[in-house]
Amino acid sequence: MKRREVAKPLYETSYGKAFLGDSLPLMADMPVASVNLVFTSPPYALHFKKEYGNAAQRDYVKWFLPFARHVHRLLRDDGSFVVDIGGAWTPGQPTRSLYHFELLIALCREVGFYLAQEFYWYNPAKLPSPAEWVTVRKVRVKDAVNCLWWLSKTPAPKADNQRVLKEYSPDMKRLVKRGYRATVRPSGHIITAKFTDRGGSIPPNLLTYGNNDSNGHYLEQCKKHGLKPHPARFPVQLPTFFLRFLTDPNDLVFDPFAGSNTTGEACEREGRRWIAVEVEERYLEASRFRFTGDLRALSDLYEENGTAGVVVQPSLFG
Ligand SMILES: C[S@@+](CC[C@H](N)C(=O)[O-])C[C@H]1O[C@@H](n2cnc3c(N)ncnc32)[C@H](O)[C@@H]1O
Repeated sequence: MKRREVAKPLYETSYGKAFLGDSLPLMADMPVASVNLVFTSPPYALHFKKEYGNAAQRDYVKWFLPFARHVHRLLRDDGSFVVDIGGAWTPGQPTRSLYHFELLIALCREVGFYLAQEFYWYNPAKLPSPAEWVTVRKVRVKDAVNCLWWLSKTPAPKADNQRVLKEYSPDMKRLVKRGYRATVRPSGHIITAKFTDRGGSIPPNLLTYGNNDSNGHYLEQCKKHGLKPHPARFPVQLPTFFLRFLTDPNDLVFDPFAGSNTTGEACEREGRRWIAVEVEERYLEASRFRFTGDLRALSDLYEENGTAGVVVQPSLFG
């Protein structure tokens, strides 16, 4: 029998490998139950074609399911699959497509994932669109959230919210200092007097990040080398939040639609092993820049303006 050639990475770093090609056949060659987290943002089914192509809304679920079946096979039993997916509008109408909800239902009903929790990424810097409904006829408001479906292979994926605690608000800090009298809220919620400093508040499932500053080094380098940056990057804080929440150091993280490899950068900063696959050579070539800058961990995961923040851990690249 003719052996299939094992794909060679386009580049490697201390923690990861970036492969050029279609992720579907590459996943078929990866070992079962070898991955702790699949974090990805697939091409969305937008009604206008992005330069890298989108499956049309009605074909989207059919297109996506073969990838998802591989993801299910590759995940360890306590592994997670986090899909960042933007919504879309019905072409020619001020109504929303249901494709990302249909996808979620198919991933659970047909592939066998569990919905561990849904998250929303709020990007305050999103431009108002579609212009026709939002700024011309003014009958809809700005759509500024992406859904992140956190799926798991079993009902008990590895997760620890203590690793993503948010700094207490000034009000909470005052309470911690002053103490609290036990009370029953009008809602019936019982607040005990046992309130103590637990190191921060548990974050909500709404994550607020602008998009750009956290890609600063990558953008600078693209400009310097005359390369077009990837048009649909997410901020590095987004994968960082889930890496900390759902994985341990040295766990393996996989991104089958890597684009500019933001997931790889977040893993490198956080000391997680990573594998990234991207089908477009120009995007993967430019993604090398992500590994030539300062790769210390982000100090502030929750900076609302999307800047990378002051770095606190030693650089991996001297
Ligand atoms: C939304 S972008 C990902 C952006 C990425 N999260 C970032 O921050 O740069 C989706 C990417 O998936 C890639 N893609 C589409 N089909 C693919 C496939 N079958 N295998 C690998 N990559 C694919 C596209 O070229 C595109 O760059």
